[in-house]
Order: sequence, then C-alpha cells, then structure tokens
Amino acid sequence: MSLLPIIEVPDQLLREQSAPVERVDDDLKRLIADMFETMYEAPGIGLAAVQVAVPRRLLIIDLQDPVEEDGDPVKDPHVFINPEILKASDARKSYNEGCLSIPDQYAEIERPDIVRARWLDQHGKSHEGEFDGLMSVCLQHEVDHLNGILFIDYLSRLKRDMIVKKVVKSRKDREQAAIL
Ligand code: NI
Repeated sequence: MSLLPIIEVPDQLLREQSAPVERVDDDLKRLIADMFETMYEAPGIGLAAVQVAVPRRLLIIDLQDPVEEDGDPVKDPHVFINPEILKASDARKSYNEGCLSIPDQYAEIERPDIVRARWLDQHGKSHEGEFDGLMSVCLQHEVDHLNGILFIDYLSRLKRDMIVKKVVKSRKDREQAAIL
C-alpha cells in the first residue's frame, strides 16, 4: 500500500465530473487500499477518488466511531462504487463540514437529513440502503465530489472566495517557511 497525494483547491480536477467505474478489478482494489491508507493518515472520514487525482466514481467512508477504551478508533470501512442518491428527505439538517481538499476550513452546511442510495461494493455486489446522521452528510459530501461540487459551493461567493484564498495563502506560507 502507499500514501497518495491529496489535491487541494483551486485544482481544476476537483471541478470535473468523475467517470463511472467500469470494472472492479485488481487495479481498483489497489486504489481502494491506497485511498484508505491515505484517508486514515490524513486523517479524514471520507475520501473521493478524484481527491487523489483519479476522476472515477468511487468513494470511501470510515466514521471510525466509536472509539475503543484504549483510544484507538474501531475501523468501519465502507466502499461506494458508482453511488447514486435515489431519494433525499425534505427535512434538512446542518453540520459543520470540512474537506481534505480544503484544509483547515470549516462551515455549517445544510443538507437533506436522510438519503436513500444505491452502490456497488469492492466485490462488485450491488447494495441499496438508507442513511442518516453523519453517514448521510458524509455520503452526500463525497457524492458531490464525484460531480465536481465542493461544500464551499453552498456558501456565498464572497465566503467561498475567501476560503480558497486562505488555503492558497497557507499553502504558500508552508512551502516557503523554514520549518526547524
Ligand atoms: Ni471533501
């Protein structure tokens, strides 16, 4: 397994529509394993393939909840290939969201509370299920990535531009700093 670089705003690849996965083969399984390693290391609870510069309809989620008594989270990995949101509740809920491609920036985002989805797992088997709470938020956030949408798109243009500017500036600062 290996760690993959995560692309960040304003990388235009994040704005592309990801293409459907056509075959669940060994290459895809390797990519999934690398994505999990990358996500756990980051750390994050969701990652779309496009964030590691592979614009395919694949995303992974692990809410890593609950935390065991020794402080290690219980791993609960989920793989969603070619996911489709079939239904979304009228009821909405807001969560404080962040994104590995928009480091250190957070905002309250309102989304449908409950969603029904269909997807393939890492064995190519089809599933359908309903999600609420953080799992619903995370799935909607990651499916947005597959459609070139970021959580900052739900904010005003002014706020969105400000967040992107901050990310670019702190990346520049990091690159130019002498870290001793
Ligand atoms: Ni994200």
